[in-house]
Amino acid sequence: MKKDTVVILDFGSQYNQLIARRVRECKVYSVLIPYNTPVWKIKSYNPKAIILTGGPASVTEKGAPRANPEIFKLGVPILGICYGMQFTAYALGGKVGKSKKREYGYAELVLNRKERFFKLFQRKEKVWMSHGDKVQEMPKGFVILAHTKNSHIASMADPVRKIYGVQFHPEVIHTPKGMQIFKNFLYDIAGLRPTWTMSSFIKNSIEEIKQKVGNEKVVLGLSGGVDSSVAAVLLHRAIGPRLHCIFVDNGLLRKYEREYVEKTFKNHFHINLHVAKSEKRFLDKLRGVTDPERKRKIIGKEFIKVFEEESRKLGNVKFLGQGTLYPDVIESISAKGGPSATIKTHHNVGGLPKKMDLKLIEPLRDLFKDEVRLLGKELKLPDAMIHRQPFPGPGLAVRIIGDITKERLEILRNTDLIVQEEMEKYEGYKNIWQSFAVLLPVKSVGVMGDERTYESVAAIRAVTSQDAMTADWAKIPYNILGRISNRVINEVKGVNRVAYDISSKPPATIEWE
Ligand code: XMP
Repeated sequence: MKKDTVVILDFGSQYNQLIARRVRECKVYSVLIPYNTPVWKIKSYNPKAIILTGGPASVTEKGAPRANPEIFKLGVPILGICYGMQFTAYALGGKVGKSKKREYGYAELVLNRKERFFKLFQRKEKVWMSHGDKVQEMPKGFVILAHTKNSHIASMADPVRKIYGVQFHPEVIHTPKGMQIFKNFLYDIAGLRPTWTMSSFIKNSIEEIKQKVGNEKVVLGLSGGVDSSVAAVLLHRAIGPRLHCIFVDNGLLRKYEREYVEKTFKNHFHINLHVAKSEKRFLDKLRGVTDPERKRKIIGKEFIKVFEEESRKLGNVKFLGQGTLYPDVIESISAKGGPSATIKTHHNVGGLPKKMDLKLIEPLRDLFKDEVRLLGKELKLPDAMIHRQPFPGPGLAVRIIGDITKERLEILRNTDLIVQEEMEKYEGYKNIWQSFAVLLPVKSVGVMGDERTYESVAAIRAVTSQDAMTADWAKIPYNILGRISNRVINEVKGVNRVAYDISSKPPATIEWE
C-alpha cells in the first residue's frame, strides 16, 4: 500500500524537523527534503501536500534558497511557513521586503475573515513570530486571512489553488493552536486522513521486510540501546529465526548489562542471540592506552573484527540489519544555506563492516526517536528498555580517564550501579538525559575509621538535554547527591571521594572523553 505523503521542503529553519514531526503527529506520513530537490523527484513521492519551511535567509537577496516555482503548478495544496510564505509570495509575483521592526516572540493574531484553514480558531489567538522580512504585496489570487500589529499580512491564501501561507510558526509549542493549523491544512484543505499509525507501520514494514529478505538470513549488531533493540524485535516479527543478533561483550559494559540483554532478547523474545564474550581481546588492545581518540579507534576496529568473525560463523548471511533513524538520513540545510548532510560522527553501534558485502536493511529509517519508542511500546518491549538512557559505543572506556584495567573497570561499574539505582528513585529521573559515573586518574587522602585512605575520586555526571547537541548539568537535589556519595564511599572499595560535574555542553561534552 502506497502511503499518503506530505513533502516538506527544507529552507534551513532550525524548526524543520519539528514540522515533519507535527505532520506525523497528525498521523500523516511526511518526508523532509532539501528545497532544491528537482521537481521530478518531488513528484516521485506522489505528494498529497507540500509544506515550505522557514529559513534564515531573505528571499530577495542574491543567492537566497529558492525552490523551483514549478511546484506551484503541481496542483497539490501548499502551505508556506514564515520564509516559506515569503518565498511563495516572491515566486508568484508578490512583493517581499524588510520589516521596519523585526518581530520576535509572541504576537496576537487577528483573523480578517472566517476560513476553514483557521477552523476552531477564535478571532484573536496567540502565535509565535520570528522574522525580519514580510510580505508587502500578495500575488494575484491571494486574500489576507489574518494580521498582527506588525504584520499586515500574517496569513494569506489563494483558496482556489489551495496555496496557504502563515508568517508565524505553527510548529512551535509557543503557538498554542499550532497543531490545529496542521490539522486544518492536512485534513480539511488537503483531504488527508490520519492513517499513519504505529500499527499500520508495523504491518507494512513486516510485509516489506519479508519481501526483501525472502528466505535469507539477517545479522544485526545488538547494542541493548533503544534503536537496535526495537529494530531487532521488528525484524524478528517478520522473519523469526532467520534473524541473528550479535551482542559484543567488550568488557566495557555497565554492570549486569549482558545479563539484561540476554534475559530480554533470548529468554523473553526468543531471538537468536549470539553473545561474543570478548573482554580479554579488548582489554589487551587497550592496555596502556590513555588517549581518548586512540581508545575509540581501537574499540571501533576491534568491534568490527569481532562482529565479522561472529557473522562468519552463521554461514551464508545476505543482509545486515541496522537501527538507523530518520534524523540520520535527512539531508538538512545548514544555516549558511546550501544543502549539507547532517554530520553524524561517533554515534551508533560503531561503523559496521563494509567489506562483508551485505545488503543493508534498516527498518527504522523512516522514524524519529519518539516514534521508535512508540513502536517499541507497540512491539511490547519492556518500558525500562524503551526509555533507556543513551550509552556510548566505546562504553566505560571513555568514562575511565587514564588507564583501563580490570580493577578500575570494576570500581567504575560498582560506582555507576549505585548512581543508576539512586537516580532511578529520583522523581525527576525521566527528565534526565544521561546520568553516570566517571573514574578519575586522581587519588586523594581520606579517613575511614582510624585509618588514613589514599584512593580514587569518582565524578558524577548528570545532564538534561533534548538531543545531546547541547546539554545542561542537571540540578539534582542535594539529598540524592548526598545519598549517592555516601553509598559510593561506603560501598565501593577504591573510591573515597565523590565530585559532581557542573559543566554544561558546550563547552564541556557530556562524556568526559
Ligand atoms: P558528547 O560526549 O559528545 O556526547 O557530548 C553526545 C552523546 O553521544 C554519546 N556518545 C556516543 N555514542 N558512540 C556512541 O554510540 C560513541 O562513540 C559516543 N560518544 C559519545 C554520549 O553518550 C552522548 O549521549
